Amino acid sequence: MDPHRPLHVLGVSGSLRTHSLNSALLRTAVALAPPALKVVPFEDLGRIPHFNQDVEAEGDPEAVVAWKGALAEADALLIVTPEYNAGLPGVLKNAVDWASRPAGRGPLRDKPVAIMGASPGRRGTARAQAHLRDVLASLGALVLPEPVVEVARAHDLFDGDLMLADNGTRDAVARLLTRFGDWVRTRAAEDAGTQS
Ligand SMILES: Cc1cc2nc3c(=O)[nH]c(=O)nc-3n(C[C@H](O)[C@H](O)[C@H](O)COP(=O)(O)O)c2cc1C
Repeated sequence: MDPHRPLHVLGVSGSLRTHSLNSALLRTAVALAPPALKVVPFEDLGRIPHFNQDVEAEGDPEAVVAWKGALAEADALLIVTPEYNAGLPGVLKNAVDWASRPAGRGPLRDKPVAIMGASPGRRGTARAQAHLRDVLASLGALVLPEPVVEVARAHDLFDGDLMLADNGTRDAVARLLTRFGDWVRTRAAEDAGTQS
């Protein structure tokens, strides 16, 4: 990892909705990223087909190749997830399942990941984030432990143009990104030291 270039962080929103609060939160992260870190959104989650091991056996479909390639190229991943029925949206779990392959060697293995989420509810995606942490841990991704960004009552915090108007939440997003960048670089330096 070159310390002189910004970290390349792939950003993905787990919502396909045009007026998604989570996609708006991801756009906020793109705008608030510190100079040491560049967040590049992955826009094609909706093109990824349902996971089917028979299809996989014939070769990853184009959209899956693009998704797994984008993950492999990125230094780190930022997932911004809604909460559906106390867990992860299916579209996001499906994408994670594709990226978990080949088993033990998929592009999420050893990938640093940060998580955020927004919900109109009171708990701000806490259960979806806990679920996602479990899933990612099971396939060897490295999930930033804290700070936690769970944006509750999110419909009150974004304006009519889906810009995040709440300064406290903007600060929380900026803090998470700064901490994430430091954490990823520290881990990479430690790994390089261990291997030399
Ligand atoms: C199928 C479904 C299940 C939902 N379950 C939850 C839930 O468990 N917890 C929660 O806080 N909100 C839940 N919601 C509300 C979502 O948080 C809300 O629709 C949110 O705006 C979705 O994210 P988005 O704006 O990024 O699309 C659910 C919505 C849908 C459509």
